[in-house]
Amino acid sequence: MTDKPRSHGRKSIRVTAQPRELITPTPTLKDVWTARVITLFPELFPGVLGASLTGKALKDGAWCLEPFDLRQHGIGRHRNVDDTPAGGGAGMVLRADVVDAALAAARGPGPVIYLSPRGAPFTQARAQALAAGPGVTLLCGRFEGVDQRVLDHHGIEEVSIGDYVLTGGEIAAMALIDATVRLLPGVLGNAASTEEESFSAGLLEHPQYTRPAEWQGRQIPEVLTSGNHAAVETWRREQAEELTRTRRPDLWARYLADHDND
Ligand code: ADE
Repeated sequence: MTDKPRSHGRKSIRVTAQPRELITPTPTLKDVWTARVITLFPELFPGVLGASLTGKALKDGAWCLEPFDLRQHGIGRHRNVDDTPAGGGAGMVLRADVVDAALAAARGPGPVIYLSPRGAPFTQARAQALAAGPGVTLLCGRFEGVDQRVLDHHGIEEVSIGDYVLTGGEIAAMALIDATVRLLPGVLGNAASTEEESFSAGLLEHPQYTRPAEWQGRQIPEVLTSGNHAAVETWRREQAEELTRTRRPDLWARYLADHDND
């Protein structure tokens, strides 16, 4: 047997004696929160998710990441995944049959989400809901998007990470995964930090300071070095409220409505 790569269209495979699990960068673990990502660029993953706390948690098996190559489900010798838009216009549209085959291969427990600027805004509440479930299957678009029929057929939900248009869904998928994985038990060392931070309480986070006590003629606010914990708490709450009121009137209005009876 030779170990010269054999060509199979755009892919080449090599015969190997190595067991599968050892050559998979992040082995699949049973009953672990799993992000399945359908993408034309599986090599982009884990990317930034492989660094810092999410990266350590991935290595430690606190969550799993399974990229699925959409190209593998492409049609014909060239593994075509897209075609021109019906009705004309610029760009290309991902084919319903190709996406359907990829979904069948990738589908696991938890919702299927198509990352799209047309989707419902992704929020901290959604990240918390996803973190409480078994995982998520994410479909990353490219080009002009996905044939609507496959989204309708499977009732696939669309989620946006903001009112701007990215080149594809991969960065959005990474943002969604990052925001969710950091909420999984044991991923952040200090669990309290997720409770205090921006959005969890519906307010933006208060400012933070550290040494040196004076920098460029600027002092740390005196209350923070007073040792008076109650005064520190009050100051932080006031700062959070003031920041939210001035920077995010939309969040402030919701906060006031939610705390009407307090
Ligand atoms: N794909 C392209 N732009 C996007 C966005 N803003 N959110 C989610 N997915 C996207």
